[in-house]
Amino acid sequence: MAERTGELNADGEQEEAYFCKERLKCSPEEDERLERQHFWKVIDAFRYYRIHVHERVNRAERQFRSLPEHHRMLLPNFLSNMAKIRRCVDHNQQVLQAIVHNCVHMFENMEYGEDDDMRKVRPSSTFDMDKLKSTIKQFVRDWSEAGKPERESCYQPLISEILRIFPRDQCDASKISILVPGAGLGRLAWEIARLGYACQGNEWSFFMLFSSNFVLNRCDGVNSMTLYPWVHQFSNNKRSSDQTRPVTFPDVNPHSLPPNSDFSMVAGDFQEVYKEPNTWDCVTTCFFIDTAHNVIDYIETIWKILKPGGAWINLGPLLYHFENMANELSVELSYEDIKAVILKYGFQMEVERESVPTTYTENDRSMLKYLYDCVFFVARKPAHLFSNGVQRGQARQFEEFQQKDRDDSMT
Ligand SMILES: C[S@@+](CC[C@H](N)C(=O)[O-])C[C@H]1O[C@@H](n2cnc3c(N)ncnc32)[C@H](O)[C@@H]1O
Repeated sequence: MAERTGELNADGEQEEAYFCKERLKCSPEEDERLERQHFWKVIDAFRYYRIHVHERVNRAERQFRSLPEHHRMLLPNFLSNMAKIRRCVDHNQQVLQAIVHNCVHMFENMEYGEDDDMRKVRPSSTFDMDKLKSTIKQFVRDWSEAGKPERESCYQPLISEILRIFPRDQCDASKISILVPGAGLGRLAWEIARLGYACQGNEWSFFMLFSSNFVLNRCDGVNSMTLYPWVHQFSNNKRSSDQTRPVTFPDVNPHSLPPNSDFSMVAGDFQEVYKEPNTWDCVTTCFFIDTAHNVIDYIETIWKILKPGGAWINLGPLLYHFENMANELSVELSYEDIKAVILKYGFQMEVERESVPTTYTENDRSMLKYLYDCVFFVARKPAHLFSNGVQRGQARQFEEFQQKDRDDSMT
């Protein structure tokens, strides 16, 4: 997997968004210093995990010990179950250590300094611990047998459209370039490359990048690794054993791509890395567009980087990531508004399904489950454009829209 750092390498959530904004104002040296700081903060989170979850188990044990004796007597297995949880956590910690082992050398064009085993493990924020726990669950979604139904519901509609639009018996798939922004742990991009297309995943979270690097480059035995992804879930368990059940990964050998396949993962902010116009035959977004501060920026970038005739295939909800974050720009558009914007850019809506039920890192034994009612669409950048990327007739259309906006605001 070829990897490089792009201009920005930050994780896409609250603290990091602030960090990005700060970085935009600073010198390249300061920029690098902040990136290095962020890198080590994420490594610290991987190392602090065990302490953090053990503290949670300590609390559960304390609560149990505070019960009256006759209540405690009713729960003879409680403490042994807590001990089991601790063993699962210890095992997860070993996997997390393996993931970050040698990560300083992961990127081709950025030095993060030498790792020093003597470095003290520093406490991480609850926010970073939550990110890490979500990353652990992401292994289930992308690389386990247990995640298969979820991948069928999320990735298969996207893959079917790629196969329809670029049929492998009618084109040289290796010449079809497909970009997957916000690629997570990389399974969708990997599956597309497995079909013979030239596919690049892009991701900016170090949590995801370290983990995808581990699974794609350092795991080869099928189901050789084990994680306990649900061990942090103390509520909504039907059986105590549900909390400590293992999940093995990878369900396929990540090195089993066909020879000469063209697959890469690129680190960095999608909007910073991809600026070259008319480059991609297809952009495939899955649970991604709601990560934007301003989703119109994403639409604009996708419009620009697609070749004329190229296709944008999207599936996902609109759970705006920055909605509840103070001091963050967050433009929360309905799908209706997004669709209107897409059409105003000049895309043609080729396929549209407004109700595709999916899950996201679902614990199938939990008593609480979320169901996303996703939108799915294929939007095509028309093949016949002026050299500036504007569609024939589109310039006039834009003027009409602007005039209408002016009229609307006067009424
Ligand atoms: C909800 S997850 C979806 C991951 C994957 N597509 C899937 O379906 O499992 C959104 C991903 O987008 C990444 N992301 C958010 N903003 C990004 C940006 N500006 N550039 C690249 N990746 C970004 C996040 O780090 C996260 O991994």
